[in-house]
Amino acid sequence: MANTEDFFKKITSHAKEYGFVFQSSELYDGLSAVYDYGPNGVELKNNIKQYWWRSMTQMHENIVGIDSAVFMHPKIWKASGHVDAFNDPLIDNKDSKKRYRADVLIEDHIAKIEEKINKEIAKAKKRFGDNFNEEQFLATSERVKGYKAQVEDIHQRFADLMNANDLKGLRDLIIELEIACPISGTRNWTDVRQFNLMFATKMGSVSDDSDTIYLRPETAQGIFVNYLNVQKTGRMKIPFGIAQIGKAFRNEIVARQFIFRMREFEQMEMEFFCRPGTEMQWFEYWKQERLNWHLALGIPKEKYRYHDHEKLAHYANAATDIEFEFPFGFKELEGIHSRTDFDLKRHQEFSGKKIQYFDSEINESYIPYCVETSIGLDRTFLAVLSYAFTEETLEDGSQRVVLKLPKMLAPYRCAVLPLVNKDGLPEKAKKIVDDLRWSFRTHYEEKDTIGKRYRRHDAIGTPFCITVDTQTMEDDTVTIRERDTMQQERVSLDNIKSFILQH
Ligand code: GAP
Repeated sequence: MANTEDFFKKITSHAKEYGFVFQSSELYDGLSAVYDYGPNGVELKNNIKQYWWRSMTQMHENIVGIDSAVFMHPKIWKASGHVDAFNDPLIDNKDSKKRYRADVLIEDHIAKIEEKINKEIAKAKKRFGDNFNEEQFLATSERVKGYKAQVEDIHQRFADLMNANDLKGLRDLIIELEIACPISGTRNWTDVRQFNLMFATKMGSVSDDSDTIYLRPETAQGIFVNYLNVQKTGRMKIPFGIAQIGKAFRNEIVARQFIFRMREFEQMEMEFFCRPGTEMQWFEYWKQERLNWHLALGIPKEKYRYHDHEKLAHYANAATDIEFEFPFGFKELEGIHSRTDFDLKRHQEFSGKKIQYFDSEINESYIPYCVETSIGLDRTFLAVLSYAFTEETLEDGSQRVVLKLPKMLAPYRCAVLPLVNKDGLPEKAKKIVDDLRWSFRTHYEEKDTIGKRYRRHDAIGTPFCITVDTQTMEDDTVTIRERDTMQQERVSLDNIKSFILQH
């Protein structure tokens, strides 16, 4: 545990040191669970956005984008169910006065038991060496079987309580499992209460309840309330999708783990409208399609898994998460929901306007069903960053930290470095930069030794360092050093661009 915590701390300090992520309002001691992106961070984030946006709106001809406002009519959140049901169950410890999510306390308790199983496996692996058979061990070890039964039992009871919205039952389970407050160490708990996660504010100058508006907790509703506009103006035929990237706000009770759970964050959401009765087929399609999108980044598939929801959100008839193995374990990265016709039907009801689609193929009008793919941009950033962060000991015994980012996402695609700061090398290097920057984000650097410059670019994940040396002046060739292998190849100036595109 200590090791994963240390590793995660290293990633967060690296993110700050190299201008990826800063605590918001740091000058004023910070604002909890809010973060700013620095010069390298914003490039990485924009590249992730581009990759998502293009894969949705460029690679699918039946998906179009919108950019709706954060502020929306307050009735929208009544219709969507968020005013009544977008809650987390919270509990306070009376001694430490700290507030927790009751469901997270129980989930953490389950994770601790699972950790014990992992420790038993690690111990057995050590004891049996090459002869170790994990499957057989899991099936026969009495201790492991006991832990597994505990996990299953708690899991089932927990899911039942959550589905029944049984707050007293949740508190009773916390007491029964002897869960203590990590700060005070006591089990002196209050009752469990529901806490709405939406931030409210006032619009206009009159302070009156009717002027209360909410900062959107998901971007999806901006899509639903524009469904008619988009379908009509774009003459869209079902099935079709509407994509959007934008900020969302949630007053999270448990805000921790860096940019994993924030109070202000960004979502990339796509609502795919289809004929009723075809939604399960599209749900399966998007489950696979979205996983493929992640895998195309070159991150191995073992780092991802599906997790089907036991407790469905108020709008869904099927839901799966794509989980990623973050340094603190497998956690939700993306949600795929079959939202039925819930949202459009509710907006039809609350607005009094007809939201129907006339399907000329079957000569019928209906409210379309919808399958949603919803991914956190900041969480994707964290997934990519934590997978890329690598500490290496080199052959000569020296250490390097390298971000093995997918090449298309790196803040700079290449850097051009004159070996020495004289003899016309800087001028030659700058000419190369001027040429390359039309195609790639390119950095020019002449300060410090070449070794130090390589390390700095390793640390921000620049895939290629192009070095201009004395030979360049004679034969118009440069060396190109590849970030992960550190191997160098001599390439003529005319071929730099194609080299980068091909590798
Ligand atoms: N429209 C559906 C929806 O909002 P969600 O599962 O609540 O579903 C979708 O959120 C995604 O948004 C999550 O999978 C996660 O990546 C991201 N997300 C949710 N809450 C977040 C938070 N507090 N901080 C960062 N990302 C968050």
